[in-house]
Amino acid sequence: MAWDDERFLVPERVCGLIGHPVSHSLGPVLHNWAFQRLGLPWVYMAWDVGPDDVGRMMDAVRLMPVAGLSVTIPHKRAVMDYLDGVSERARQVGAVNTLHWHGTKLLGENTDVDGFLAPLEDTGRAFDSALVLGAGGAARAALAALQQLGVPDVRITNRTRSKAEEIASDFGVQAVDWDARAENPAALLVNTTSLGMSGRHIEESPWLAEAFPSDCTVYDIVYNPLRTRFLREARSAGCHVVDGLSMFIHQALAQFRLWTGQSFPVDLARELLLTHLRG
Ligand code: ATR
Repeated sequence: MAWDDERFLVPERVCGLIGHPVSHSLGPVLHNWAFQRLGLPWVYMAWDVGPDDVGRMMDAVRLMPVAGLSVTIPHKRAVMDYLDGVSERARQVGAVNTLHWHGTKLLGENTDVDGFLAPLEDTGRAFDSALVLGAGGAARAALAALQQLGVPDVRITNRTRSKAEEIASDFGVQAVDWDARAENPAALLVNTTSLGMSGRHIEESPWLAEAFPSDCTVYDIVYNPLRTRFLREARSAGCHVVDGLSMFIHQALAQFRLWTGQSFPVDLARELLLTHLRG
């Protein structure tokens, strides 16, 4: 095989993902594609880091030419202890999903909020009410985003009510009972639970097919599979649907901007990832 000298880039800087597990992440596909498009000699890797190794990993980040990191479950809170600063937004969400440098300072940011907002703004719709299903880290990012959007009536519901109540009190919104969720319809329904995700919950939906409010917008942050049962049933009921791949791409774009100061085209990124997900 002959080398194509024109296209051969020796990596000079590294970005990466830390989490546990990380094997199914689309991050390496997306960021490496974007680096190559821009001719940046950077590489993005996925590092499976166990909970006991976060401190050592953060030491390594300060030693190596690491330009930035994505952080996923279960380290989004733990990394905060190893940073020189955490943004107001990441503090509000209670989670960091992005590390970046400001001079010699290693800072924590949360781009899930912008990632969540961008596809909603693209719908061109206005929402006077929203119901968030689930009460994990993604629910907190969704609530921060909905408040930033100025949605006046935001509610949260979760199978384990105490978790919904804790988040509701942090954000000053109302918690409603999981069993009464269908009696709390809203202009925007958001799934942040793991129902519908590939694996054991793949054919489950957090909503009742017959209970979608007419003309509502239904947003699933799950993106694998892309068409979850929740979204399929919402579409059949005539609702407007937003899938989780859009959020994933937009949160990654916000990271990419922090690290490189440059952008990539969202539409092409979506085509790339759809091809990848179809295998
Ligand atoms: P983790 O991400 O911590 O592993 P998870 O079990 O995947 O958590 O669940 C994430 C979210 O999906 C939680 O809001 C969870 O509700 P609980 O707080 O009650 O556990 C929700 N969830 C998971 N399985 C569910 C189910 N079968 N029915 C309703 N909600 C569910």
